[in-house]
Amino acid sequence: MVIETRHLTKTFNGKGGCRDVSLSVGEGEVFGFLGPNGAGKSTLIKTLVGLCRPSSGEGKVLSRPVGDVQARRSIGYLPELFRFQDYLTAEELLRFHARLYEMDMKGIDGRTDELLGICGIDEHKRQRIGTYSKGMQQRLGLASALLPSPKLVFLDEPTSALDPVGRRDVRNIIEDLKNDGVTVFLNSHLLSEVELTCDHVAIIDNGHIIASGSLDELMRRNKKLEIRLGSVDDAVLLALKDEGREVSVHGSTLEIPIEGESEIPGIVRTIAQNGGNIYEAGTSKTNLEDIFIGMIDEEREGSGSNNRDEL
Ligand SMILES: Nc1ncnc2c1ncn2[C@@H]1O[C@H](COP(=O)(O)OP(=O)(O)OP(=O)(O)O)[C@@H](O)[C@H]1O
Ligand SMILES: [Mg+2]
Repeated sequence: MVIETRHLTKTFNGKGGCRDVSLSVGEGEVFGFLGPNGAGKSTLIKTLVGLCRPSSGEGKVLSRPVGDVQARRSIGYLPELFRFQDYLTAEELLRFHARLYEMDMKGIDGRTDELLGICGIDEHKRQRIGTYSKGMQQRLGLASALLPSPKLVFLDEPTSALDPVGRRDVRNIIEDLKNDGVTVFLNSHLLSEVELTCDHVAIIDNGHIIASGSLDELMRRNKKLEIRLGSVDDAVLLALKDEGREVSVHGSTLEIPIEGESEIPGIVRTIAQNGGNIYEAGTSKTNLEDIFIGMIDEEREGSGSNNRDEL
């Protein structure tokens, strides 16, 4: 595992932060870490990169305890709110960061040129950062995170300031990193992007992880079966209810949440055996945003009660 935490907690005088986080991220995964504002996402990243000391619990990153200086050489980090030295140019900043990483400075100009090109700001490399737009600064932040050719990259909302083209560029960069076997830990509020980019996700609310696992599984588990009948009779509804199904009726269509397609034949059978005439049946596509909002709402209504949902 590239990241492994057990009951990792970081609070600030007992408040806020993230609590009791037990997560595993495997090599080469693109891991999406989602949660509402103030949920504890950035705190966890800062703890994993060694900027915050854990309050309790433990964590390993690249097989070393969190905060280990040696491991940090192989970690790239794009913080969510950063301010680079305004008076430096992009080129100078990357050289400076290369020295902080204690990188071999031979060939560094080639590496910085390559990264500024990948991140789409090579034309501005001799311009002072103080004159950069916020999207340009974010692109530079990404270049800096990729500078040490990391094995693991933490990106805390890498596309928050980017235009649609920039967001696509970042998606492509993440895809390339994945193809090179680099592990990416991504915080993002852009759930459509997470859906396109990540293979694993965890959802955090109020400091606690409320779900984690593969994105495929999460999407599959949150499907709805839609069945259009000739007419909706009580016998059908009662039979489905007896089987513990949650059914909502929209005109002549029944909407039934399912956890997997293996449940479909049984539902169809129950309806047919109770006199229902099925004219149409299909699963509706859910998106990550609906799933996310559903889980957060459930958690806040108390039914989730911080129970981690292992997928
Ligand atoms: N340095 C700090 N001192 C005190 N409290 C803090 C500190 N940093 C974070 N917190 C608190 O910890 C909680 C989690 O904050 P965090 O920045 O991790 O949230 P987040 O999930 O990254 O939110 P966002 O989506 O807004 O970036 C919040 O309640 C915040 O107020
Ligand atoms: Mg944050």
